[in-house]
Amino acid sequence: MVAHWSHQVRLSSAFIPGNRATPDLYRLTVFNGADVPVSGFKLGFSGPARIADSATLTGGSVVMRLSNYCEIAPGPGFILQPDACWSVSIDKLDYALQHWTDGAVYGFLVTADGTAHALPTEPTRLEHSAEPHRRGVMRLKGKTTAPATILPWPAEIAISGRRSVPQGFVFEADSETAGSVVEVFAALANALFPGAGLVRGDAEDGCVVRVALDSKLGGEAYRITFATDSVAIAGGSSAGLLYGLITLGQVQRGSRLDADMFSFPTGGYIADAPAHGWRGMHLDVARRFYSTEEVKQFLRIMAWNKLNRFHWHLSDDEAWRVEIDAFPALTAIGAWRGFGLPIPPLLGSGPERAGGFYTKAAITEIVALAAELGIEIIPEIDVPGHCFALLQALPHLRDAGENGLYESIQSFPNNCLNPGVEAVYAAVETIFAEMLELFPSRWFHVGADEVPHEAWATSPLARTLLETTGGDGPAPLQAHFLKRVQAFLTANGRITGAWEEARDGGGIDREDCYLVGWTTVAASQELAREGYDVVVAPGQTYYLDMANGPEWAEPGAHWAGWSSPAKAYAFDPATGWSAAERERLLGVQGCVWSEPMADRAVFDRLVFPRLSAIAETGWTAPERKDFARFSVAANLMPSLYGTTDMAGL
Ligand code: ACM
Repeated sequence: MVAHWSHQVRLSSAFIPGNRATPDLYRLTVFNGADVPVSGFKLGFSGPARIADSATLTGGSVVMRLSNYCEIAPGPGFILQPDACWSVSIDKLDYALQHWTDGAVYGFLVTADGTAHALPTEPTRLEHSAEPHRRGVMRLKGKTTAPATILPWPAEIAISGRRSVPQGFVFEADSETAGSVVEVFAALANALFPGAGLVRGDAEDGCVVRVALDSKLGGEAYRITFATDSVAIAGGSSAGLLYGLITLGQVQRGSRLDADMFSFPTGGYIADAPAHGWRGMHLDVARRFYSTEEVKQFLRIMAWNKLNRFHWHLSDDEAWRVEIDAFPALTAIGAWRGFGLPIPPLLGSGPERAGGFYTKAAITEIVALAAELGIEIIPEIDVPGHCFALLQALPHLRDAGENGLYESIQSFPNNCLNPGVEAVYAAVETIFAEMLELFPSRWFHVGADEVPHEAWATSPLARTLLETTGGDGPAPLQAHFLKRVQAFLTANGRITGAWEEARDGGGIDREDCYLVGWTTVAASQELAREGYDVVVAPGQTYYLDMANGPEWAEPGAHWAGWSSPAKAYAFDPATGWSAAERERLLGVQGCVWSEPMADRAVFDRLVFPRLSAIAETGWTAPERKDFARFSVAANLMPSLYGTTDMAGL
């Protein structure tokens, strides 16, 4: 068998919804367009959906499965002739497919000699539907009488007059600090809008903008005053000043790009300050790797939306992404997936070795950029659950006596760091200590979500620890683990962050911690009622991996529902909260989970403009929100990959 046949063999898949009499079916089809027969093979594939253990297959059988990676083989002696198809039907998945990104993203054939041959793979079709799959940033429709395209909308705006739109600005800074902010703004504007020439030299016909710090303004507050032929901006700090410059840039872009609707003012002012201190965005770089440059661009987009907390999800079952000197295996093994590797292809990452990690130098660069942009980075290392990649790299951290199998909600086997293994604490502290050197932020997030109910049930070391902690099940063990981890972080001057499950078993001290509420809209309020500082990030509205709508043609996940930009925008984090509960509200956060982000146009469709919707809720008082006005401004905001709405194309 020669290798050149493989690019003529294709994988397609279809979801066939069932009815009362028949189950849903998921059908994978390999078409042999080559002129040679193919035999002795198995099909490897992955994508978000998982084949249930109890599934019945017609046309083949499961050879192996790990989470969403699966290998299926036809019956013995099967030969796939030229121009023929081989189909396998599967009657049970962990969930019924609902969107085109749910199914197999990437498949390959493994031939008898053990070689993997990547196959062109078509996105999963819904049977009998010809609707084109949607990708790219969704453009919103709207008309507004608002005087400018500022996003998030400011606290006070009273501008007047009209002049020809300045092509750019010449800045005059009153101090070294103000001068540095102008430089940061120039780099930001050039990176987001290359070639636009927003910041100009003295000889380049820009509108003069005087820039000054004003200690009477709050930290993130700013004030812009417009005159006939100049502008003045004052900021309470470097961050406030930068926000003033960003607002000015947005006013200019709106009046330049939509001159019929917006004009550049000659009088009046904008006085602004945020409603919430925590205006966060999370990025899951474990399910998919984003290069240093992509992360930096994401931070710049965050800054343009006046978001100020970057929750960086650096580890999960699927990968480990941080260089740690003490444990080179973490990145040598844990950062890579591929056929035949300790971590198989997952979520469509393909048979070739794929992945990556952030070197310490890269992290230092990213942290420095974030600081310039007024963004604090909260690193997350997700423990004790979600540790499959970590444990593949450091298997000595397992209890060798554990002899049973448990599976996580995403079907990873035995994926939790074991609180009964003493070496776990030394490893976690060593890793955290190296990371504390890299990340100056006040907070360090330790995950603590989704430990399966059966975790550690057959570990003798865990059972011994349970005799000391009392109770049963994983909660007291996780609580014991978190107490030690939090004590370490507190001793190092950091506040421990975690997902809401950290409160189970009372494992985390309310002092020196914050929790992110994610499972339901009500969950965050409950945490606040219990006295935890809370960041509100309900999956139902703020998980940006959820699809924008219920249609098959929309990409994304659906386990928490779907959330259109309008729904994400309308959500108010503290509706119905008491005054005491509001005291605990730190702010809001969008979460960019990467499971469905199979391509860049999918990323753009899922993240934009919903990122801006969340940013406006974080900044703007609820009574000043207006979706029509927001929609017009959102269409002018930058996206990570610059893909445009491809619905219907
Ligand atoms: C989470 O979505 N597991 C925090």
